[in-house]
Amino acid sequence: MGERVLITGGAGFVGSHLADALAQADHEVMLFDNLEPQVHGDGRTRPAYLDPNHRLEIGDVRDPDALGPLVRQADVVFHLAAMVGVGQSMYQVRRYTDVNAMGMASLLEVLAANRLRGRVRKLLVASSMSIYGEGAYTCESCGNVAPRLRPVEQLKAAEWEVRCPRCGSALQPTATGEDKPLYPTSIYAITKRDHEEMAIAFGQAYELPAVALRFFNIYGSRQALTNPYTGVAAIFSARMLARQAPVVYEDGHQQRDFVHVSDVVRACMLAMANQAADYQVLNVGTGRPISVLRVGELLARELGWSGGFDVVRRFRAGDIRHCFADTTLIRSLLGYEPKYRFEDGVQELVTWVSQQDGLSSAGFGDPERHLADYGLVR
Ligand SMILES: NC(=O)c1ccc[n+]([C@@H]2O[C@H](COP(=O)([O-])OP(=O)(O)OC[C@H]3O[C@@H](n4cnc5c(N)ncnc54)[C@H](O)[C@@H]3O)[C@@H](O)[C@H]2O)c1
Ligand SMILES: [Zn+2]
Repeated sequence: MGERVLITGGAGFVGSHLADALAQADHEVMLFDNLEPQVHGDGRTRPAYLDPNHRLEIGDVRDPDALGPLVRQADVVFHLAAMVGVGQSMYQVRRYTDVNAMGMASLLEVLAANRLRGRVRKLLVASSMSIYGEGAYTCESCGNVAPRLRPVEQLKAAEWEVRCPRCGSALQPTATGEDKPLYPTSIYAITKRDHEEMAIAFGQAYELPAVALRFFNIYGSRQALTNPYTGVAAIFSARMLARQAPVVYEDGHQQRDFVHVSDVVRACMLAMANQAADYQVLNVGTGRPISVLRVGELLARELGWSGGFDVVRRFRAGDIRHCFADTTLIRSLLGYEPKYRFEDGVQELVTWVSQQDGLSSAGFGDPERHLADYGLVR
């Protein structure tokens, strides 16, 4: 028989896909979401993509009175509600800290109060690759290294590649494992590291199995195109549809790990079902690096965009050069195999973005200008 699964942030991109997959597998889903206007528009209406059969309660994760009744009915809780903009978190510091840290804190207090009933059997939280800072690298002379951010002087000279922190030589990026030291470089990332640590420490204290899933760069349908602080694949697509060249920082050869939302959902379901995931911190990526410019080119091909890219050769504070997942742990513990390379998954995203109307440059906002106003782009 299925379980009752509560998803905070369940009306969002990842949460709604997870809800569909859980319902498909005969679980009963309960979604909790405040329909944040930056994601869902000023009308705060129930998103059209949400299955009408899913139960959605509108409320704020910082409000234990709203959250409590749902937690008390849940067998499993996925905590996905969060403010999700790296750059924006650097000037809306209190807002990000408040929603993300206090949201998690409220959930944990509700779980603590609920514990006597012994209902919830597992807590899974969304973490992020952003907590790593720079990814892992190898140096020919020094072996494996975990560099900090590139010095600003180096970036001002448009020298983008990371140098060895010990000997200064050129480095090769390698897959980033969960044990790499964490150097979060944004307020958003710090709150995500907090999510992990809060969930695992709380879980151990109460013997409530907790799992932290370190999502890499997720893409796919339902990613909020009107939210200028969302993922780069959605931002690029929205730009092209608004007949504007996507803005590419540095030289575009920085590498990331783009994982399709359906692979992320499968990782979530495996972690929910399998005790081997309990108290673990797991990378959820593909293990394949792809450059930001290549992502843009593949999107351009699918969308028929021939207007090129605005490769600005400037840099944003806190940006890293390369990071992609070492997926050994999640493969060995849960048998997780990502199905999609970006080349394979891009079409599903493009089909979705092409169906969205009203994407004009006006509605899209101007994140670049905000960052520049705060001196966060140089
Ligand atoms: N998309 C990615 O590439 C990515 C990468 C790493 C981690 N994550 C994490 O995954 C989770 C889901 O991200 P997503 O991409 O689906 O984002 P999303 O913005 O589509 O979904 C987040 C949902 O949380 C809701 N929300 C925000 N503040 C809330 C509050 N105070 N109370 C209740 N609900 C609130 C929003 O309305 C939204 O529906 C987040 O925790 C995010 O940090 C996402
Ligand atoms: Zn070295």
